[in-house]
Amino acid sequence: MGPSRIFPSWRIFLALRCIFTLLVFTAVSTPPEDPVKCASGNTDCTVTNSVGIFADRSTCLAANVAYPTTEAELVSIVAAATKAGRKMRVTTRYSHSVPKLVCTDGTDGLLISTNFLNHTVRPDAKAMTLTVESGVTLRQLIAEATKVGLALPYAPYWWGLTVGGLLGTGAHGSSLWGKGSAVHDYVTEIRMVSPGSVNDGFAKIRVLSETTTPSEFNAAKVSLGVLGVISQVTFKLQPMFKRSITYVMENDSDFGDQAVTFGKKHEFADFVWLPSQGKVVYRKDDRVPVNTSGNGLYDYLPFRSQLSAISAIRRTSEETQEKFEDVNGKCVSAKLTSSTLFATSYGLTNNGILFTGYPVIGYQNRMMSSGSCLDSLEDGLVTACGMDSRIKGEFFHESCVSVPLTHIKSFIDDVKALVKIESKALCGLDLYNGFLMRYVTYSSAYLGRDTEALSFDMTYYRSKDVTPDSLTETAKRNVNSSPDLDRTGKPKLDLKSL
Ligand SMILES: Cc1cc2nc3c(=O)[nH]c(=O)nc-3n(C[C@H](O)[C@H](O)[C@H](O)COP(=O)(O)OP(=O)(O)OC[C@H]3O[C@@H](n4cnc5c(N)ncnc54)[C@H](O)[C@@H]3O)c2cc1C
Ligand SMILES: *[C@@H]1O[C@H](CO)[C@@H](O)[C@H](O)[C@H]1NC(C)=O
Ligand SMILES: *[C@@H]1O[C@H](CO)[C@@H](O)[C@H](O)[C@H]1NC(C)=O
Ligand SMILES: *[C@@H]1O[C@H](CO)[C@@H](O)[C@H](O)[C@H]1NC(C)=O
Repeated sequence: MGPSRIFPSWRIFLALRCIFTLLVFTAVSTPPEDPVKCASGNTDCTVTNSVGIFADRSTCLAANVAYPTTEAELVSIVAAATKAGRKMRVTTRYSHSVPKLVCTDGTDGLLISTNFLNHTVRPDAKAMTLTVESGVTLRQLIAEATKVGLALPYAPYWWGLTVGGLLGTGAHGSSLWGKGSAVHDYVTEIRMVSPGSVNDGFAKIRVLSETTTPSEFNAAKVSLGVLGVISQVTFKLQPMFKRSITYVMENDSDFGDQAVTFGKKHEFADFVWLPSQGKVVYRKDDRVPVNTSGNGLYDYLPFRSQLSAISAIRRTSEETQEKFEDVNGKCVSAKLTSSTLFATSYGLTNNGILFTGYPVIGYQNRMMSSGSCLDSLEDGLVTACGMDSRIKGEFFHESCVSVPLTHIKSFIDDVKALVKIESKALCGLDLYNGFLMRYVTYSSAYLGRDTEALSFDMTYYRSKDVTPDSLTETAKRNVNSSPDLDRTGKPKLDLKSL
């Protein structure tokens, strides 16, 4: 859109809103609140997730919450609850899973929070391993590895996940290289505290590894939190390296073919596909030697802290579009959002401050994940993470399916065919930056993947009102999100979106 074009005033409003959302941020931010809240002390509690509402909008109750600070305390908590025949679930600092994996049934369950199990246990630079407690966040894990000159090769893009949660749901970044992009495939040992018999004193510590207990280890690598409380995890890391990132936007005419081969050419490749615009953003992202010059930083714009007032304007405009079924408005907003993100290189800078051009080269620990809105300086919610449930901000539903590479071209062709029939129908996805498509591959974990695939993240508007209409809408979307073209023909959902 050229500057000479005359915009109706609402378009100018939208443009300003979009630019403000992306560019107005500060170094401080009110940190997200604890997902567990109790009526008195640590008893009579409710638990929710980081967006404040589970997929079915129900509230989960528990009789009490325990905050172990050491493995020994964890053992005695599990033992006492086992002896009393109580149900237990593990909760984490931010609780990012959208589905209610953290809920026990009934009201007399026990929540065990890993908030204070956030210590580094043992870095070993020589063996290139790092052992941490399970409540350590991805952000901490990356920082601790960096201190001893090591790097975790692949991880989710958002800092706020904990080691226990990453393993719980099989979280991943994007790669077909090495052992692939799933964090659990870089784990060498898991210490897990599980209920035990009277003879065990009602709890036991299992030390699981590939060499000593292969089948238990493969079960525990992705456990949905049901096998016991993960206490400590040992990662096998790599010497620090640098990455070189270039984003290129192209039309999607040959995307079906590109999707099959691009991940073999670039180690950290991913795609942002904007189907209603017929565009794909290719992430050309490669490992380069550590002595290559460059000190780039990837501080992803949507994960920076936002002024709450701006988040509210954004949300109001979206609600208005929904109310009036303003498809054209959504498409205009979508285009602005995606082009602004692309034009601002998604938050990539060559030196931590300025973007001067591609490629952006920087250390792995500064390029792989971000989430600066988690920085914990209280400012009374003047600023916050965009998805903080205490402000009027982003509220969305997220669905995820993975499609084997053998089927990817026909899947992409099917989506393109849908766009041809109703070109504006997918603007709602583009508004949340389209399909984020990331490579995943085989894993020895029993709940891991069995083939090379592309995992599609789809984020879209969700109503905040609990009306019968919005419930049906959510239910419909949940149903629609399930089929996966598994090579066995069995439908299979992506675990992290379960
Ligand atoms: C903004 C955002 C970005 C995301 N980005 C990505 C991404 O890039 N890639 C990706 O794959 N996923 C991504 N996710 C999904 C995320 O990886 C999963 O939701 C993950 O499980 C969240 O981890 P958590 O620490 O918040 O765990 P929770 O949501 O609190 O817990 C998840 C499950 O793990 C269990 N659990 C947690 N800790 C332990 C423990 N110590 N012992 C036993 N069980 C435990 C819980 O009981 C629960 O069943 C993202 C989610 C959000 C909200
Ligand atoms: C662990 O978490 C607690 C509570 O959030 C925090 O006060 C403490 O500083 C954290 N410790 C480390 C080592 O990060
Ligand atoms: C898409 O881009 C390619 C070059 O990258 C070009 O050859 C082709 O004509 C373009 N297709 C459309 C529909 O614009
Ligand atoms: C990086 O180091 C390698 C070997 O250590 C050397 O051959 C190469 O010239 C160096 N490159 C730069 C850009 O310094």
